[in-house]
Amino acid sequence: MKYIIGNWKSNKNLLETRDWFAKFTNIYSRQKDTISTANLTLVICPPFVLLPLAKELRDKYGLPLGLGVQNISPFAEGAFTGEVTAGMAKEFAQYAIIGHSERREKFGETDNILSDKAKRAKSAGLITVFCIPGPETPVPNEADIVAYEPVWAIGTGKTESPQKAGEVAEYIKKKNPGKSVIYGGSVKAENANSFLSFGSIDGVLPGGSSLDPQSFFDIVSNASSF
Ligand code: PGA
Repeated sequence: MKYIIGNWKSNKNLLETRDWFAKFTNIYSRQKDTISTANLTLVICPPFVLLPLAKELRDKYGLPLGLGVQNISPFAEGAFTGEVTAGMAKEFAQYAIIGHSERREKFGETDNILSDKAKRAKSAGLITVFCIPGPETPVPNEADIVAYEPVWAIGTGKTESPQKAGEVAEYIKKKNPGKSVIYGGSVKAENANSFLSFGSIDGVLPGGSSLDPQSFFDIVSNASSF
């Protein structure tokens, strides 16, 4: 089983979300007989405010897509202005990205805060996609999927070499037994398979190329041989 988890980051509005789902549905329904998604788990992570619409459209079009959030509160519900709890997220999503390097760098999220977030996600029943910038970054026990994302490869068009990513994935698995490991950083249709073909790499986390429904579909279509 391989994961393809699209991270929309802070992009799209209601109209653009409708457009993405309409186009993806159109492409998918025309080509679904030529691809096999039996061994793939597909997930899209839109911003919080777009999740209800994404869920509605996913259900309406009957798409084989899981939904995820890009962040959650490290606290339970209560007086925490501006925060969305894991329990709230769970009403719309099955997955939670935690510890993305943009959160670590731009929002000051520390290993301790991220460990609290992973606990909240776990207890709400979310599958945690825990991002780490390097193989030595601590991974909480509660994490389900570890996303290895070298910072220099994010949004730059430069990827880690698949060979190196495969070795790092193996190392992360040895350090954190039982966890799936995926790769992120400038993944697109043209290079996704070079990562997915490593047994130690359980999936990919495309950011920029998940924003376009055709690009996201092309990753899925190229990956469907696994
Ligand atoms: P990118 O982003 O594919 O645009 O490099 C990946 C990520 O940050 O999750």
